[in-house]
Amino acid sequence: MSATGLMARINRTFVLTLLIAASSIFLLFQLFNYRQYSSKNGFSALNSKGYLSGKEAHWHLLKKFLGLVHRFKLPVFLVDTVSLNLLSQDAVLYRDSQLKEPHCSFLCTHRDFTTFALLGNLWKYDTALLDAAAERGLELLEIHGKDPRLNSMDDLTAKEIPLHFLFRFNSRLVHVVVLYERSGKYLWHGPLRLKDSMDRTFAPFGKLDFGRHAGAYDRPELILTTLDGLDVRIPKNYTRFLHEHSSSCFLECRCREAKAFYQLYPEDTSTEAMDFRMKAKSLLHLASKVLSVLGVPFWLSSGTCLGWYRQCNIIPYSKDVDLGIWIKDYRQDITQAFQKAGLPLKHKFGKVEDSLELSFQGNDVKLDIFFFYDEGDIVWNGGTQAKSGKKFKYVFPRFSLCWTELMELKVRVPCETEDYVMANYGPNWNVPVKTWDWKTSPFNVRENGVWPVREWDEVVQVY
Ligand SMILES: *[C@@H]1O[C@H](CO)[C@@H](O)[C@H](O)[C@H]1NC(C)=O
Repeated sequence: MSATGLMARINRTFVLTLLIAASSIFLLFQLFNYRQYSSKNGFSALNSKGYLSGKEAHWHLLKKFLGLVHRFKLPVFLVDTVSLNLLSQDAVLYRDSQLKEPHCSFLCTHRDFTTFALLGNLWKYDTALLDAAAERGLELLEIHGKDPRLNSMDDLTAKEIPLHFLFRFNSRLVHVVVLYERSGKYLWHGPLRLKDSMDRTFAPFGKLDFGRHAGAYDRPELILTTLDGLDVRIPKNYTRFLHEHSSSCFLECRCREAKAFYQLYPEDTSTEAMDFRMKAKSLLHLASKVLSVLGVPFWLSSGTCLGWYRQCNIIPYSKDVDLGIWIKDYRQDITQAFQKAGLPLKHKFGKVEDSLELSFQGNDVKLDIFFFYDEGDIVWNGGTQAKSGKKFKYVFPRFSLCWTELMELKVRVPCETEDYVMANYGPNWNVPVKTWDWKTSPFNVRENGVWPVREWDEVVQVY
């Protein structure tokens, strides 16, 4: 081989190598670009100034968080009130459907946090999860509290359980509310209370949707959907969930005080008392079912409310179950619905405009429903004496409604329970009184005239 021939060959090899190297670099560059692109799902990660805009940063946090919980098989679902609200607005849905380029219409809101929920029985401690969170740059704050499910009157030393998780990335947050199933088959979450040692600046705690107080929810049916390019579970009927959220405040029964009460006044465990409690419990469950089908909210009133507040129980000598309903929620088909459920009408006193009261006969136990009227600073319900046509009025301070649990049922009570009980039973409500006259005993009873005789047919109906 000649020298020139050799030179030509070396040259060719050099050019070929250069070409291969150049195209490899180009290919790698393309690959890198593609990966960047696909990981962003089209979101341009950096704006012209070179940092993430608020929405994009938030979307990236959500992607990190959802990737993390997916990897650890934690089926969180969206409970963020602003996001769920956006989903229920036709205008937002329409605008979203018109957008071609990647966007974040539902999960990125005006706030720097998004709220999810997780069922507590699906959570387990896994250091791998904490490591994976740290690897993704997520800071985690865990908030614990007492487990009320173990808080029976026999055991006041409840264990601590996780109640809230806060994942933070670049001062943006994902708040995870842990929901536990209570014995009444509903879901409960605890309040978010910071311990002294905790960082009060970790999150805008005052602005969070969940945690100012404990809350109760019916177990929602969930569906998997795609929002803003991310797979998320949401409550199927999110308008219903939002509605529940607006009145979700939950009060725990006062176990400690109930225990003290029973030490002073030992529980009646006679067969009659146990029998009455069982019947009252099933009547309460039945009434709750009938009224919830009708969509009529109610609360525990009079003796039933006193029993819950004072002793976390039904008072065995009370002889009836007492419920309150706002008169604005009265519906004509209430009577028919109870009759269909096997509870005949026993009496009807008053009329819708004044002092309405319905009484149904359960199995040995009476169900009394008192309708409450709104009058400025006070609310009141009426009473009627059948034989004389005399009217009575029971006055209470205004109150709002909270959830609680009685006899394995999620029910409402006045949130300002002590004021309510005090109004009705006076300052000695904590002392049992067995002889009771509804016309004279209540602390808040007032005489309220007599029904005109011509109205008696309507306002005094006894069956
Ligand atoms: C959602 O729940 C509400 C009750 O809060 C009900 O009126 C409505 O029909 C439900 N919607 C669907 C689609 O089931």
